[in-house]
Amino acid sequence: MTEKEILAKLKQGGDIPSLPSIVQKVNKAVASDTCTAEELGHIIEQDQALSTKLLRLANSSYYGLSRKVNTISRAITVLGFNMVRDLALTVSVYKIFSSGHGKGGVDVLGLWAHSFACAIASKVLMTKRFPEEASRAFLGGILHDIGKVLILQKLPQEQAEIKNRLHSDSGVNLIDAEREVLGFTHAEVGALVSDMWQFPKDLIEPIQYHHAPRAARISPVLVAAVHVGNEVVKAIALGKSTALHVMAIDENMWDTLHIQAPDLPNIVANIYNDFELAADFIEA
Ligand SMILES: [Fe+2]
Ligand SMILES: [Fe+2]
Repeated sequence: MTEKEILAKLKQGGDIPSLPSIVQKVNKAVASDTCTAEELGHIIEQDQALSTKLLRLANSSYYGLSRKVNTISRAITVLGFNMVRDLALTVSVYKIFSSGHGKGGVDVLGLWAHSFACAIASKVLMTKRFPEEASRAFLGGILHDIGKVLILQKLPQEQAEIKNRLHSDSGVNLIDAEREVLGFTHAEVGALVSDMWQFPKDLIEPIQYHHAPRAARISPVLVAAVHVGNEVVKAIALGKSTALHVMAIDENMWDTLHIQAPDLPNIVANIYNDFELAADFIEA
């Protein structure tokens, strides 16, 4: 199916949600060299719900701040521009997830917990060898299954059919079931919308290729982290994916990440630990 055909099919269920304009403003401000902390603070404070949620996330144990952050300007000072930008995006994506909860019998908040767990795992997998890209991996994890949310919201009947197939045929995996029912996958849908939302290419690839990591061209390490992180959190049952089974991890991805078997116990322990620290936000 072409992109056009996929979009047309999705639009049968109504317009594709746009990313809140506040996120675009924040992205633009952080990308410009001249934006001050005060200006960024003003932009975020325009959105009360975003501000509240952002402060809540910043104060969750996950970020390990020693002093409570009460204002957005303080959050910007303590966390930095990039982190605040990432938090704003995370909070906005959460909103898109939560608006679809309960529809079509799919546990979207469970899927959110899965996405957050994948984000944590992807970040942990990068921390040792690629620390400068670890926060990028976190965002890749948050976003990787966004296509599922759109399929669920826009095409509930097809979603129900996919679910049926998964439950009645233990041999079929989610990607094949999506292809059979829809003619395209949640990874393709995710790539399409993230392109519409004008995400940078390095962030689109983990969404597009998290189930086919060898196809990555621009950000293979990020793609590897999200691919491995996704299956690891399913295997250790953190969050709740709509896929019933853990799919095979592409062995080459361990090399891409420079991770060896003896590193694994530590990595898994860190994922559990970080997930627990973030729990008060995930359950919000
Ligand atoms: Fe996925
Ligand atoms: Fe996933």
